[in-house]
Amino acid sequence: MFKLSDFTLDEKLKMLIGKNGWEVETSGKAPKFEMHDGPNGCKCFENNDDWTSKIIPTHCYPALSVISNSWDEDAAFFDGEGIAMDCVDNHTEMLLAPGVNIKRSLACGRNFEYFSEDPYLAGKMAKKFIEGLQSKGVGACIKHYALNNSEYDRLNVSANADERTMHDIYLRNFKIALEAKPWAVMCSYNRINGVYASENKDLLDEKLRKEMNYDGVIMSDWGAVFNRAKSLKATLDLQMPYEEHAFGQLKKAYEAGFITDDEIDASCDRLLKMIEKAVAAKPLRTAPLTHDERYERCVSLAEGGMVLLKNDGILPLKPVKKLGVIGTFAKFPAYSGGGSANVFSKYPPKPLYDEFKKLYPETEVVFEGVFHDDGKREIINNLAKVNKAQRLAYSSDAVVMTVGTGEFEESEARDRYTIKLRPQFISVVNAVAKYNKNVILVVEASSAVDLTEVEDSVAAILFTGFAGDGMNEAIAKIISGKTNPSGKLTETFPYDIEDCYVTPDLENYYYDDYTDGVFVGYRHFDKYNLPVRYEFGFGLSYSEFEYSNLDIKKSGEDYVVSYDVKNVSKVDGKEVSQVYIKDVFSLLPRPEKELAAFSKDLIKAGETKRVSVKIEKSSLEYYLPPIKDYYLESGDFEVYVGGSSRNLPLKGKITVVMPPYTQFTPTNEIDDEMLL
Ligand code: GLC
Repeated sequence: MFKLSDFTLDEKLKMLIGKNGWEVETSGKAPKFEMHDGPNGCKCFENNDDWTSKIIPTHCYPALSVISNSWDEDAAFFDGEGIAMDCVDNHTEMLLAPGVNIKRSLACGRNFEYFSEDPYLAGKMAKKFIEGLQSKGVGACIKHYALNNSEYDRLNVSANADERTMHDIYLRNFKIALEAKPWAVMCSYNRINGVYASENKDLLDEKLRKEMNYDGVIMSDWGAVFNRAKSLKATLDLQMPYEEHAFGQLKKAYEAGFITDDEIDASCDRLLKMIEKAVAAKPLRTAPLTHDERYERCVSLAEGGMVLLKNDGILPLKPVKKLGVIGTFAKFPAYSGGGSANVFSKYPPKPLYDEFKKLYPETEVVFEGVFHDDGKREIINNLAKVNKAQRLAYSSDAVVMTVGTGEFEESEARDRYTIKLRPQFISVVNAVAKYNKNVILVVEASSAVDLTEVEDSVAAILFTGFAGDGMNEAIAKIISGKTNPSGKLTETFPYDIEDCYVTPDLENYYYDDYTDGVFVGYRHFDKYNLPVRYEFGFGLSYSEFEYSNLDIKKSGEDYVVSYDVKNVSKVDGKEVSQVYIKDVFSLLPRPEKELAAFSKDLIKAGETKRVSVKIEKSSLEYYLPPIKDYYLESGDFEVYVGGSSRNLPLKGKITVVMPPYTQFTPTNEIDDEMLL
């Protein structure tokens, strides 16, 4: 559609650099191509040339960590599809999302933007998000490629990992997500094994383009290009945003013969093909949902991703005479984390106490904020307010108490220095709990928090995540029982951050050696047989489920795993069943178990559902560096099925038989095929 020959050399060089903060420079010879953040929603500005211009209000969807806590691939699709409608309404061709980085460090400030500590789950959810987004003609730009697993000094740190660790953990999520064909991949700020992602030819060309057969655009994170000529030679197509010296750098490098016509044309061709995709997708660009319907979608996505961590039976909360609602987050919920992901909400969350008034019309609902009013800065609480809260608790039949991290603690460009709740929260929760045994603690954080100091004082704990505009409506629906909670954790909550391999105290500020290898998240805790507070895949429901009748059948190179899940309670509910595999004997050490399939199913009270999922061959393989490829080993694999990574009542076995010539274990058999 667009011919390179229509562009002069200068116009091509300009195309390799952003026109401004948000557009590709096409010198008027191709349609405008505009891109905006982010994973929570479409965040566009009134004037793309002015960083300080007004942000146009749109819908703030739940953070991707909440979507992944739903374990619902349809939710990921509807999330992307919903955000796409705001992009359509706001002349945006591509969304700078999803972020898929692995949650290696619990303290990483951007964990709220990411899916999981597990690459299979992260990849599957990202793939669906991209499909949803692109189903409405809006391109996805998957990010941040790669090994951007902490925020501290992200423009300097070098994440150093071996080939197997990269392939089995940090690139596998991208590899799975690329099946949805995102229009672009955004490289990260950091160095990988010493070389900046933006100029790392091995990472961009060898691994992404050649190994993963990716033929789309690679663009930089904002300000992640340090030398435009070197990044072009690494096959980075687009430096973002516009930078005044980049054109001169490229021109000089061209005249010196350092960069070639072929390299320039290859990148420009990929950029023009991306614009052609946008033109071809025009018929898909519709926004059929009204704003009210989009808000409703935000609520339902939030409901599906909230995780009930504790319930002594108080939930669902029956109507009471008086309900105390304590904590500033009830008024200003932590509905998004800080940084580029936050959007300006068209429908800002309604106060939690108003939501309770709607659901409990006969109940006296009384609010006491206690903390700083806006919930965005360091919280302060004064004695008089704490005392008021205690009196409110004393006179109430039950209390809903909101605490959390918010964008003050979970944000881009910084990591947390602890995963404990802030001391002010801890003291007030315990002060309030002294006067009421029915405290329902609502934890508005989006990455693991250490609740040790408060969990025994309260009757129930609901972990909400940064759940967007519909957050408070979702919380009230779950607490009242209108919605049966069905979310499960996609990252491990340890007893103590010191049990983690990676802790907030950085040993070195300039390199981060990934010596934990493939043992990340639950793989780490399993390796050392460490107890954890809440395990990967854990979440309570108002229903109860039992598993039976496991059957495993080969299907081509994959395996179909079927099992019964029975809802033995009186309440309809959704169950997230999980399937893990263990390679019993492997040449290289493998994790105790690895997630290989999952399913979320609505199961009515008393009903038994037969669930079938597929273990793909790729889940049985692991990367073997000497052959520079993935390797499937003959031998036994154990299969575990259940409701969380540490509650796996069903156990089965797969025996893989591969031709001897493909194997590296000693064998004196000469297979005929070897002689061909
Ligand atoms: C930021 C983020 C990236 C975002 C981009 C544009 O620094 O790292 O995720 O899409 O810049 O705001």
